[in-house]
Amino acid sequence: MADARPFHWEFKPEPVDSEILRIEGGRRLEGSVRVSGAKNAALKLMAAATLTGERCRFSNVPEIEDVRVLAGVLTDMGVTVDHPEPNVYEIASGDIDWLFVPLEAAAKMRASFILLGPLLTRFGRVIISNPGGDRIGRRPVNLHVDAMRALGAEIEYRNGYYFAKSPGRLRGGPINFPQITVMGTENAMLAAVLADGHTVIEPAAQEPEVDDLIAFLQKMGAEVQRTAPTRIEIEGRRRVRGADHSVVPDRIEAGTFVVAAGVTHGRVTLEGAPCDHLGSFLEVMSDAGVSVSSNGDKIEVDATAADLHPLLCRDIETQPYPGLATDLQPPTCVLLTQAQGDSHVHETVFEDRLEWMGELRRMGADIEIQDQHRALIHGPSRLHGADVEIGDLRAGASLILAALAADGVTTIAGAHHVHRGYEKIDQKFLELGARIERLSGRDVA
Ligand code: UD1
Repeated sequence: MADARPFHWEFKPEPVDSEILRIEGGRRLEGSVRVSGAKNAALKLMAAATLTGERCRFSNVPEIEDVRVLAGVLTDMGVTVDHPEPNVYEIASGDIDWLFVPLEAAAKMRASFILLGPLLTRFGRVIISNPGGDRIGRRPVNLHVDAMRALGAEIEYRNGYYFAKSPGRLRGGPINFPQITVMGTENAMLAAVLADGHTVIEPAAQEPEVDDLIAFLQKMGAEVQRTAPTRIEIEGRRRVRGADHSVVPDRIEAGTFVVAAGVTHGRVTLEGAPCDHLGSFLEVMSDAGVSVSSNGDKIEVDATAADLHPLLCRDIETQPYPGLATDLQPPTCVLLTQAQGDSHVHETVFEDRLEWMGELRRMGADIEIQDQHRALIHGPSRLHGADVEIGDLRAGASLILAALAADGVTTIAGAHHVHRGYEKIDQKFLELGARIERLSGRDVA
Protein backbone atom coordinates (compact mmCIF):
# COMPACT_ATOMS: atom_id res chain seq x y z
CA MET A 1 0.00 0.00 0.00
CA ALA A 2 1.32 3.45 -0.85
CA ASP A 3 2.44 5.72 1.92
CA ALA A 4 0.72 9.01 2.77
CA ARG A 5 3.16 11.70 3.91
CA PRO A 6 1.41 15.04 3.73
CA PHE A 7 3.94 17.07 5.60
CA HIS A 8 6.73 16.42 3.10
CA TRP A 9 4.58 17.68 0.32
CA GLU A 10 5.76 20.57 -1.79
CA PHE A 11 3.18 21.89 -4.15
CA LYS A 12 4.07 24.93 -6.25
CA PRO A 13 0.95 26.21 -7.94
CA GLU A 14 1.36 28.21 -11.15
CA PRO A 15 0.72 31.87 -10.40
CA VAL A 16 -2.67 32.80 -11.83
CA ASP A 17 -2.21 35.63 -14.31
CA SER A 18 -5.28 37.72 -13.78
CA GLU A 19 -6.94 38.10 -17.13
CA ILE A 20 -9.18 40.80 -18.49
CA LEU A 21 -11.64 40.47 -21.34
CA ARG A 22 -12.55 43.52 -23.37
CA ILE A 23 -15.86 43.23 -25.16
CA GLU A 24 -17.48 45.66 -27.52
CA GLY A 25 -21.17 44.83 -27.31
CA GLY A 26 -24.21 45.28 -29.47
CA ARG A 27 -23.31 42.86 -32.28
CA ARG A 28 -25.74 40.18 -33.39
CA LEU A 29 -24.14 36.71 -33.08
CA GLU A 30 -24.47 34.51 -36.14
CA GLY A 31 -23.00 31.21 -37.25
CA SER A 32 -22.37 27.83 -35.74
CA VAL A 33 -20.40 26.64 -32.77
CA ARG A 34 -19.37 23.17 -31.59
CA VAL A 35 -20.23 22.23 -28.02
CA SER A 36 -17.28 20.88 -25.99
CA GLY A 37 -17.20 17.96 -23.58
CA ALA A 38 -18.77 18.51 -20.16
CA LYS A 39 -16.50 19.71 -17.35
CA ASN A 40 -18.72 18.08 -14.76
CA ALA A 41 -18.39 14.71 -16.48
CA ALA A 42 -14.70 14.86 -17.47
CA LEU A 43 -13.44 15.51 -13.93
CA LYS A 44 -15.33 12.53 -12.47
CA LEU A 45 -14.23 10.24 -15.30
CA MET A 46 -10.59 11.15 -14.68
CA ALA A 47 -11.08 10.38 -10.99
CA ALA A 48 -12.73 7.06 -11.87
CA ALA A 49 -9.60 6.11 -13.82
CA THR A 50 -7.76 5.80 -10.48
CA LEU A 51 -9.93 2.77 -9.64
CA THR A 52 -7.65 0.63 -11.81
CA GLY A 53 -3.97 0.33 -12.61
CA GLU A 54 -4.84 -0.19 -16.29
CA ARG A 55 -4.82 2.61 -18.84
CA CYS A 56 -8.01 4.60 -19.46
CA ARG A 57 -8.45 6.81 -22.51
CA PHE A 58 -10.82 9.76 -22.67
CA SER A 59 -11.74 11.72 -25.78
CA ASN A 60 -13.84 14.89 -26.10
CA VAL A 61 -12.24 16.15 -22.87
CA PRO A 62 -12.66 19.93 -22.69
CA GLU A 63 -9.41 21.92 -22.73
CA ILE A 64 -10.18 23.84 -19.56
CA GLU A 65 -8.32 24.88 -16.45
CA ASP A 66 -10.13 22.49 -14.09
CA VAL A 67 -9.08 19.51 -16.20
CA ARG A 68 -5.48 20.78 -16.18
CA VAL A 69 -5.61 21.22 -12.40
CA LEU A 70 -6.91 17.69 -11.86
CA ALA A 71 -4.35 16.28 -14.31
CA GLY A 72 -1.67 18.08 -12.28
CA VAL A 73 -2.97 16.71 -8.98
CA LEU A 74 -2.96 13.17 -10.39
CA THR A 75 0.53 13.58 -11.84
CA ASP A 76 1.86 14.88 -8.55
CA MET A 77 0.42 11.81 -6.82
CA GLY A 78 2.40 9.56 -9.16
CA VAL A 79 -0.32 8.77 -11.69
CA THR A 80 0.73 8.75 -15.36
CA VAL A 81 -1.33 11.32 -17.23
CA ASP A 82 -0.71 11.67 -20.96
CA HIS A 83 -2.24 14.30 -23.19
CA PRO A 84 -1.34 12.92 -26.65
CA GLU A 85 -3.53 15.29 -28.63
CA PRO A 86 -6.04 18.06 -27.95
CA ASN A 87 -9.13 16.83 -26.09
CA VAL A 88 -7.63 13.40 -25.39
CA TYR A 89 -6.26 12.27 -22.03
CA GLU A 90 -4.83 8.88 -21.09
CA ILE A 91 -4.52 7.95 -17.44
CA ALA A 92 -2.72 4.99 -15.91
CA SER A 93 -2.81 4.75 -12.11
CA GLY A 94 -0.57 1.74 -11.55
CA ASP A 95 1.56 3.25 -8.82
CA ILE A 96 0.26 6.01 -6.67
CA ASP A 97 3.08 7.29 -4.51
CA TRP A 98 1.18 9.89 -2.54
CA LEU A 99 -2.35 9.29 -1.32
CA PHE A 100 -2.66 12.94 -0.58
CA VAL A 101 -4.65 15.78 -2.16
CA PRO A 102 -3.12 19.04 -0.94
CA LEU A 103 -4.82 22.24 0.09
CA GLU A 104 -3.27 24.18 -2.79
CA ALA A 105 -4.98 21.92 -5.32
CA ALA A 106 -8.26 21.63 -3.46
CA ALA A 107 -8.52 25.37 -2.97
CA LYS A 108 -8.43 25.84 -6.73
CA MET A 109 -11.12 23.32 -7.44
CA ARG A 110 -13.81 21.84 -5.25
CA ALA A 111 -14.12 18.86 -7.59
CA SER A 112 -10.76 17.58 -6.32
CA PHE A 113 -12.81 16.05 -3.49
CA ILE A 114 -14.10 13.49 -5.99
CA LEU A 115 -10.80 11.65 -5.46
CA LEU A 116 -11.87 10.66 -1.94
CA GLY A 117 -14.09 7.73 -2.99
CA PRO A 118 -11.88 6.03 -5.60
CA LEU A 119 -8.58 6.39 -3.70
CA LEU A 120 -10.07 5.27 -0.40
CA THR A 121 -11.78 2.22 -1.87
CA ARG A 122 -8.76 1.10 -3.92
CA PHE A 123 -5.90 1.88 -1.54
CA GLY A 124 -7.65 1.87 1.83
CA ARG A 125 -6.45 5.34 2.81
CA VAL A 126 -6.22 8.92 1.64
CA ILE A 127 -5.62 12.34 3.11
CA ILE A 128 -7.60 14.98 1.29
CA SER A 129 -8.00 18.69 1.82
CA ASN A 130 -11.32 20.30 2.57
CA PRO A 131 -12.12 21.87 -0.81
CA GLY A 132 -12.77 25.46 -1.87
CA GLY A 133 -13.95 26.08 -5.42
CA ASP A 134 -16.58 28.57 -6.54
CA ARG A 135 -17.68 31.24 -4.13
CA ILE A 136 -21.33 30.26 -4.31
CA GLY A 137 -22.25 29.41 -0.79
CA ARG A 138 -20.83 27.28 1.99
CA ARG A 139 -20.56 24.14 -0.14
CA PRO A 140 -19.79 21.67 2.64
CA VAL A 141 -18.71 18.06 1.99
CA ASN A 142 -20.42 16.43 5.00
CA LEU A 143 -22.63 14.28 2.75
CA HIS A 144 -19.58 12.81 0.99
CA VAL A 145 -17.95 12.03 4.32
CA ASP A 146 -21.14 10.49 5.76
CA ALA A 147 -21.47 8.30 2.64
CA MET A 148 -17.92 6.95 3.10
CA ARG A 149 -18.63 6.27 6.77
CA ALA A 150 -21.79 4.40 5.75
CA LEU A 151 -19.47 2.12 3.75
CA GLY A 152 -17.30 1.49 6.81
CA ALA A 153 -14.60 4.16 6.39
CA GLU A 154 -13.02 5.82 9.42
CA ILE A 155 -12.62 9.53 8.79
CA GLU A 156 -11.14 12.20 11.03
CA TYR A 157 -10.93 15.91 10.32
CA ARG A 158 -7.78 17.72 11.45
CA ASN A 159 -6.16 21.00 10.39
CA GLY A 160 -8.20 21.36 7.21
CA TYR A 161 -7.66 17.75 6.08
CA TYR A 162 -9.83 14.65 6.09
CA PHE A 163 -7.79 11.61 7.12
CA ALA A 164 -9.74 8.67 5.71
CA LYS A 165 -8.96 5.00 6.08
CA SER A 166 -10.63 1.67 5.77
CA PRO A 167 -9.36 -1.26 7.85
CA GLY A 168 -10.14 -3.75 5.05
CA ARG A 169 -12.27 -3.36 1.94
CA LEU A 170 -15.10 -0.88 2.27
CA ARG A 171 -18.43 -2.66 2.93
CA GLY A 172 -21.40 -2.15 0.60
CA GLY A 173 -24.61 -0.98 2.26
CA PRO A 174 -27.43 1.55 2.06
CA ILE A 175 -26.48 5.18 1.51
CA ASN A 176 -29.43 7.46 2.17
CA PHE A 177 -28.74 11.10 1.41
CA PRO A 178 -30.92 13.66 3.22
CA GLN A 179 -30.95 15.71 -0.01
CA ILE A 180 -29.83 15.38 -3.61
CA THR A 181 -26.09 15.87 -4.09
CA VAL A 182 -24.39 15.41 -7.45
CA MET A 183 -20.78 14.86 -6.43
CA GLY A 184 -21.89 13.13 -3.23
CA THR A 185 -23.72 10.56 -5.38
CA GLU A 186 -20.68 10.19 -7.63
CA ASN A 187 -18.20 9.84 -4.77
CA ALA A 188 -20.40 7.21 -3.10
CA MET A 189 -20.75 5.32 -6.37
CA LEU A 190 -17.01 5.35 -7.04
CA ALA A 191 -16.29 4.07 -3.54
CA ALA A 192 -18.93 1.34 -3.78
CA VAL A 193 -17.52 -0.03 -7.06
CA LEU A 194 -14.67 -1.81 -5.23
CA ALA A 195 -16.48 -2.34 -1.90
CA ASP A 196 -17.42 -5.74 -0.56
CA GLY A 197 -21.14 -6.31 -1.16
CA HIS A 198 -24.18 -4.45 -2.40
CA THR A 199 -24.73 -0.68 -2.16
CA VAL A 200 -27.96 1.18 -2.75
CA ILE A 201 -27.73 4.97 -3.11
CA GLU A 202 -30.94 6.92 -2.53
CA PRO A 203 -31.92 9.54 -3.51
CA ALA A 204 -29.29 9.50 -6.27
CA ALA A 205 -28.70 12.57 -8.43
CA GLN A 206 -30.09 12.25 -11.96
CA GLU A 207 -27.75 14.65 -13.75
CA PRO A 208 -26.67 13.39 -17.21
CA GLU A 209 -23.03 13.60 -16.09
CA VAL A 210 -23.79 11.02 -13.36
CA ASP A 211 -25.13 8.71 -16.07
CA ASP A 212 -22.03 9.33 -18.17
CA LEU A 213 -19.95 8.18 -15.20
CA ILE A 214 -22.15 5.08 -14.82
CA ALA A 215 -21.64 4.29 -18.52
CA PHE A 216 -17.85 4.52 -18.10
CA LEU A 217 -17.84 2.42 -14.92
CA GLN A 218 -19.83 -0.26 -16.75
CA LYS A 219 -17.17 -0.29 -19.50
CA MET A 220 -14.59 -0.80 -16.73
CA GLY A 221 -16.49 -3.91 -15.70
CA ALA A 222 -18.14 -2.40 -12.63
CA GLU A 223 -21.58 -3.63 -11.71
CA VAL A 224 -23.47 -0.37 -11.36
CA GLN A 225 -26.94 0.49 -12.53
CA ARG A 226 -29.60 3.11 -12.12
CA THR A 227 -32.49 0.88 -11.06
CA ALA A 228 -35.00 3.71 -10.54
CA PRO A 229 -34.87 7.42 -11.43
CA THR A 230 -33.38 8.32 -8.04
CA ARG A 231 -31.79 4.98 -7.09
CA ILE A 232 -28.38 3.61 -8.09
CA GLU A 233 -27.31 0.09 -7.11
CA ILE A 234 -23.77 -1.25 -7.11
CA GLU A 235 -22.50 -4.77 -6.58
CA GLY A 236 -18.91 -4.33 -5.46
CA ARG A 237 -16.08 -6.11 -7.30
CA ARG A 238 -12.48 -6.81 -6.34
CA ARG A 239 -11.12 -5.05 -9.40
CA VAL A 240 -12.09 -3.20 -12.55
CA ARG A 241 -10.22 -2.75 -15.83
CA GLY A 242 -9.16 0.15 -18.06
CA ALA A 243 -11.60 1.47 -20.68
CA ASP A 244 -12.09 4.16 -23.33
CA HIS A 245 -14.80 6.77 -23.20
CA SER A 246 -15.91 9.91 -25.00
CA VAL A 247 -17.11 12.65 -22.63
CA VAL A 248 -20.76 13.67 -22.93
CA PRO A 249 -21.27 17.20 -24.38
CA ASP A 250 -21.61 20.10 -21.98
CA ARG A 251 -25.25 21.10 -21.52
CA ILE A 252 -24.23 24.17 -19.50
CA GLU A 253 -21.95 25.46 -22.24
CA ALA A 254 -24.70 24.77 -24.78
CA GLY A 255 -27.20 26.72 -22.67
CA THR A 256 -24.77 29.62 -22.37
CA PHE A 257 -24.57 29.88 -26.17
CA VAL A 258 -28.36 29.67 -26.50
CA VAL A 259 -28.62 32.73 -24.25
CA ALA A 260 -25.84 34.46 -26.21
CA ALA A 261 -27.94 34.14 -29.35
CA GLY A 262 -31.02 35.26 -27.42
CA VAL A 263 -29.58 38.44 -25.90
CA THR A 264 -27.91 39.56 -29.12
CA HIS A 265 -31.01 38.82 -31.24
CA GLY A 266 -28.80 36.46 -33.20
CA ARG A 267 -29.09 33.19 -35.07
CA VAL A 268 -26.77 30.44 -33.88
CA THR A 269 -26.52 26.71 -34.55
CA LEU A 270 -25.03 24.52 -31.83
CA GLU A 271 -23.34 21.41 -33.21
CA GLY A 272 -22.86 18.31 -31.10
CA ALA A 273 -25.34 19.57 -28.52
CA PRO A 274 -26.93 17.39 -25.83
CA CYS A 275 -30.52 18.29 -26.79
CA ASP A 276 -32.04 15.62 -24.54
CA HIS A 277 -30.33 17.12 -21.49
CA LEU A 278 -31.67 20.63 -21.87
CA GLY A 279 -35.44 20.08 -21.59
CA SER A 280 -36.31 22.45 -18.72
CA PHE A 281 -33.94 25.14 -19.91
CA LEU A 282 -35.17 25.10 -23.51
CA GLU A 283 -38.75 25.36 -22.25
CA VAL A 284 -37.81 28.50 -20.35
CA MET A 285 -36.13 29.89 -23.45
CA SER A 286 -39.17 29.36 -25.65
CA ASP A 287 -41.47 30.77 -22.94
CA ALA A 288 -39.23 33.82 -23.09
CA GLY A 289 -39.74 34.10 -26.83
CA VAL A 290 -36.44 32.72 -28.13
CA SER A 291 -37.10 30.31 -30.98
CA VAL A 292 -35.19 27.09 -30.36
CA SER A 293 -35.46 23.91 -32.39
CA SER A 294 -33.48 20.75 -31.93
CA ASN A 295 -32.75 18.04 -34.43
CA GLY A 296 -30.46 15.14 -33.57
CA ASP A 297 -27.41 16.73 -31.98
CA LYS A 298 -28.08 20.19 -33.39
CA ILE A 299 -29.83 23.08 -31.72
CA GLU A 300 -30.89 26.03 -33.86
CA VAL A 301 -31.53 29.26 -32.02
CA ASP A 302 -33.21 32.11 -33.82
CA ALA A 303 -33.75 35.26 -31.82
CA THR A 304 -33.69 37.67 -34.73
CA ALA A 305 -37.33 38.57 -34.19
CA ALA A 306 -37.52 37.77 -30.49
CA ASP A 307 -39.97 39.71 -28.41
CA LEU A 308 -39.04 38.52 -24.96
CA HIS A 309 -41.85 37.95 -22.50
CA PRO A 310 -41.57 38.21 -18.72
CA LEU A 311 -41.16 34.91 -16.92
CA LEU A 312 -42.97 34.15 -13.69
CA CYS A 313 -41.50 32.82 -10.48
CA ARG A 314 -42.59 29.24 -11.09
CA ASP A 315 -40.72 29.28 -14.37
CA ILE A 316 -37.38 30.34 -12.94
CA GLU A 317 -36.73 28.08 -10.05
CA THR A 318 -33.55 26.06 -10.05
CA GLN A 319 -33.81 22.40 -9.10
CA PRO A 320 -31.70 19.26 -9.35
CA TYR A 321 -31.96 17.55 -12.77
CA PRO A 322 -34.35 17.25 -14.57
CA GLY A 323 -35.27 20.72 -13.25
CA LEU A 324 -33.67 23.95 -14.39
CA ALA A 325 -29.91 23.68 -13.68
CA THR A 326 -28.53 26.11 -11.11
CA ASP A 327 -25.51 26.51 -13.42
CA LEU A 328 -27.87 27.95 -16.06
CA GLN A 329 -29.55 30.36 -13.65
CA PRO A 330 -27.02 33.19 -14.15
CA PRO A 331 -27.16 33.07 -17.99
CA THR A 332 -30.96 32.89 -17.85
CA CYS A 333 -31.04 35.98 -15.65
CA VAL A 334 -29.11 37.93 -18.27
CA LEU A 335 -31.81 37.05 -20.79
CA LEU A 336 -34.49 38.15 -18.33
CA THR A 337 -32.98 41.64 -18.08
CA GLN A 338 -34.09 41.95 -21.70
CA ALA A 339 -37.62 40.59 -21.15
CA GLN A 340 -40.68 42.85 -21.16
CA GLY A 341 -41.75 43.15 -17.52
CA ASP A 342 -40.87 41.64 -14.17
CA SER A 343 -39.34 38.19 -13.71
CA HIS A 344 -38.84 36.38 -10.43
CA VAL A 345 -35.86 34.14 -9.86
CA HIS A 346 -35.70 31.52 -7.14
CA GLU A 347 -32.31 29.86 -6.63
CA THR A 348 -33.01 26.80 -4.49
CA VAL A 349 -29.75 24.84 -4.78
CA PHE A 350 -27.07 27.23 -3.50
CA GLU A 351 -27.08 30.25 -1.22
CA ASP A 352 -25.10 33.27 -2.47
CA ARG A 353 -25.57 32.47 -6.14
CA LEU A 354 -27.27 35.80 -6.73
CA GLU A 355 -24.44 38.02 -5.45
CA TRP A 356 -22.91 38.41 -8.88
CA MET A 357 -26.03 40.35 -9.93
CA GLY A 358 -24.43 43.38 -8.27
CA GLU A 359 -22.03 43.46 -11.24
CA LEU A 360 -24.94 43.06 -13.66
CA ARG A 361 -26.59 46.08 -12.03
CA ARG A 362 -23.45 48.11 -12.74
CA MET A 363 -24.15 47.43 -16.41
CA GLY A 364 -27.64 48.94 -16.12
CA ALA A 365 -29.78 45.94 -15.13
CA ASP A 366 -32.69 46.78 -12.83
CA ILE A 367 -32.60 43.98 -10.25
CA GLU A 368 -33.77 43.73 -6.65
CA ILE A 369 -31.95 41.02 -4.72
CA GLN A 370 -34.58 40.13 -2.15
CA ASP A 371 -32.64 37.58 -0.13
CA GLN A 372 -29.95 34.92 -0.63
CA HIS A 373 -32.30 32.89 -2.82
CA ARG A 374 -34.64 35.33 -4.54
CA ALA A 375 -34.37 38.20 -6.98
CA LEU A 376 -36.76 40.32 -8.96
CA ILE A 377 -35.63 41.45 -12.40
CA HIS A 378 -37.41 44.47 -13.88
CA GLY A 379 -37.07 44.25 -17.64
CA PRO A 380 -36.26 45.39 -20.14
CA SER A 381 -33.09 47.30 -19.28
CA ARG A 382 -30.73 48.84 -21.74
CA LEU A 383 -27.39 47.37 -20.72
CA HIS A 384 -24.29 49.53 -21.10
CA GLY A 385 -20.56 48.83 -20.97
CA ALA A 386 -18.82 49.01 -17.58
CA ASP A 387 -15.74 47.76 -15.75
CA VAL A 388 -16.87 44.65 -13.90
CA GLU A 389 -15.27 41.78 -12.07
CA ILE A 390 -15.88 38.05 -12.16
CA GLY A 391 -16.02 36.13 -8.88
CA ASP A 392 -16.89 32.65 -10.10
CA LEU A 393 -17.20 30.51 -13.20
CA ARG A 394 -20.88 30.67 -14.15
CA ALA A 395 -21.32 34.29 -13.11
CA GLY A 396 -18.28 35.06 -15.27
CA ALA A 397 -19.76 33.54 -18.39
CA SER A 398 -22.95 35.47 -17.69
CA LEU A 399 -21.16 38.80 -17.46
CA ILE A 400 -19.70 38.02 -20.89
CA LEU A 401 -23.26 37.49 -22.16
CA ALA A 402 -24.33 40.81 -20.66
CA ALA A 403 -21.35 42.53 -22.25
CA LEU A 404 -22.24 41.06 -25.66
CA ALA A 405 -25.74 42.54 -25.32
CA ALA A 406 -24.60 45.90 -23.93
CA ASP A 407 -23.96 49.18 -25.71
CA GLY A 408 -20.31 50.19 -25.60
CA VAL A 409 -17.23 48.57 -24.16
CA THR A 410 -17.10 46.32 -21.09
CA THR A 411 -13.92 45.18 -19.41
CA ILE A 412 -14.25 42.07 -17.30
CA ALA A 413 -11.55 41.44 -14.72
CA GLY A 414 -10.98 37.97 -13.28
CA ALA A 415 -11.74 36.32 -16.62
CA HIS A 416 -9.43 33.41 -15.75
CA HIS A 417 -12.34 32.01 -13.69
CA VAL A 418 -14.23 31.41 -16.95
CA HIS A 419 -11.42 29.29 -18.39
CA ARG A 420 -11.93 26.90 -15.48
CA GLY A 421 -15.01 25.59 -17.22
CA TYR A 422 -15.40 26.94 -20.76
CA GLU A 423 -13.13 25.79 -23.58
CA LYS A 424 -11.87 28.66 -25.76
CA ILE A 425 -14.91 30.74 -24.93
CA ASP A 426 -13.50 33.95 -26.37
CA GLN A 427 -12.50 32.23 -29.61
CA LYS A 428 -15.95 30.67 -29.98
CA PHE A 429 -17.62 34.05 -29.52
CA LEU A 430 -15.18 35.65 -32.00
CA GLU A 431 -16.17 33.07 -34.59
CA LEU A 432 -19.81 34.05 -34.09
CA GLY A 433 -18.95 37.68 -34.84
CA ALA A 434 -18.41 39.08 -31.35
CA ARG A 435 -15.77 41.72 -30.68
CA ILE A 436 -13.88 40.23 -27.77
CA GLU A 437 -10.21 40.30 -26.87
CA ARG A 438 -8.10 38.95 -24.07
CA LEU A 439 -5.82 41.33 -22.21
CA SER A 440 -3.50 40.36 -19.44
CA GLY A 441 -3.64 42.39 -16.23
CA ARG A 442 -0.49 44.22 -17.44
CA ASP A 443 -2.10 45.47 -20.68
CA VAL A 444 -4.57 47.59 -18.78
CA ALA A 445 -2.51 48.50 -15.75
C1 UD1 B 1 -22.23 19.90 -8.86
C2 UD1 B 1 -21.62 20.63 -10.02
C3 UD1 B 1 -22.00 22.10 -10.02
C4 UD1 B 1 -23.52 22.24 -9.90
C5 UD1 B 1 -24.06 21.43 -8.74
C6 UD1 B 1 -25.57 21.42 -8.67
C7 UD1 B 1 -19.55 19.43 -10.37
C8 UD1 B 1 -18.07 19.47 -10.35
N1 UD1 B 1 -20.17 20.53 -9.96
O1 UD1 B 1 -21.67 20.47 -7.67
O2 UD1 B 1 -21.54 22.69 -11.23
O3 UD1 B 1 -23.82 23.61 -9.71
O4 UD1 B 1 -23.64 20.05 -8.84
O5 UD1 B 1 -26.10 20.95 -9.86
O6 UD1 B 1 -20.15 18.46 -10.79
N2 UD1 B 1 -24.31 19.93 0.01
C9 UD1 B 1 -24.14 19.75 1.36
N3 UD1 B 1 -23.22 18.84 1.79
C10 UD1 B 1 -22.47 18.10 0.92
C11 UD1 B 1 -22.66 18.28 -0.47
C12 UD1 B 1 -23.58 19.20 -0.88
O7 UD1 B 1 -24.80 20.41 2.17
O8 UD1 B 1 -21.66 17.29 1.36
C13 UD1 B 1 -25.29 20.92 -0.48
C14 UD1 B 1 -24.64 22.04 -1.29
O9 UD1 B 1 -24.14 23.06 -0.45
C15 UD1 B 1 -25.77 22.49 -2.15
C16 UD1 B 1 -26.54 21.20 -2.44
O10 UD1 B 1 -26.14 20.28 -1.41
O11 UD1 B 1 -26.59 23.40 -1.47
C17 UD1 B 1 -26.30 20.56 -3.77
O12 UD1 B 1 -24.91 20.49 -4.00
P1 UD1 B 1 -24.26 19.32 -4.90
O13 UD1 B 1 -25.30 18.72 -5.76
O14 UD1 B 1 -23.50 18.43 -4.01
O15 UD1 B 1 -23.26 20.15 -5.81
P2 UD1 B 1 -21.83 19.69 -6.30
O16 UD1 B 1 -21.85 18.24 -6.54
O17 UD1 B 1 -20.79 20.24 -5.40
